[in-house]
Amino acid sequence: MCVIVRCAGTAVLTIRASDKLFVGVARRKRPIHFTTRSQRTADSCGGGTLTHTESTMTQAKTRSAPGAKDAIAILTEDHKKVKKMFMDFEKLMNSENKEVQKGTLVKKICEELTLHTQVEEEIFYPAVRGAIDDDELMDEADVEHDGAKELIAQLEDMEPGDDHYDAKVTVLGENVDHHVKEEQDEMFPKAKKAKLDLAALGTQMLERKQELQAGDDASTAKKNARAA
Ligand SMILES: [Fe+2]
Ligand SMILES: [Fe+2]
Repeated sequence: MCVIVRCAGTAVLTIRASDKLFVGVARRKRPIHFTTRSQRTADSCGGGTLTHTESTMTQAKTRSAPGAKDAIAILTEDHKKVKKMFMDFEKLMNSENKEVQKGTLVKKICEELTLHTQVEEEIFYPAVRGAIDDDELMDEADVEHDGAKELIAQLEDMEPGDDHYDAKVTVLGENVDHHVKEEQDEMFPKAKKAKLDLAALGTQMLERKQELQAGDDASTAKKNARAA
């Protein structure tokens, strides 16, 4: 069952799916394509593609496992992991004959960043946007994600040794550094102050990450089977 309540131009959506209750306040009008559990729930309500004004976004009321990491701890851990990978790349850049290692590392960096940004965009950002009054900050974060995706797409089509390969990885690392600083110094403190249920969001994010990783594993296995 889903109920949309409108109040002074703002839509509040409540979706009940089994034991999960999602409540969101929507402000943006840009169409969003759900690929999360909330999409399946929304589909069953009669819509697959919704607008932010009529849908979004999930300040989840799911129950989190005791001792589970909250959303900010999960994202901060990802940031550290990616930072270390960029530092490892810098070391490889300063060594001879490390093309194979570079290629493997950059593939991992691209996978990590893709997973991280997707989970932020599907779960964390909409919840934060609905809870803090700072669309400018959230819009900038969206644009920075778009820039990173563009470089990731280019790198996925390249090999180490290609023209500008190292430069693209370096610029991606610098852009990610800048973006992470804004998230950690501005967005996360605002999210904490807004008293979001960060533990429930963390649980949702981990579930979604596992779902995406399982999908990636399956498609890699298929590719390998075709290649064999
Ligand atoms: Fe992040
Ligand atoms: Fe981000």
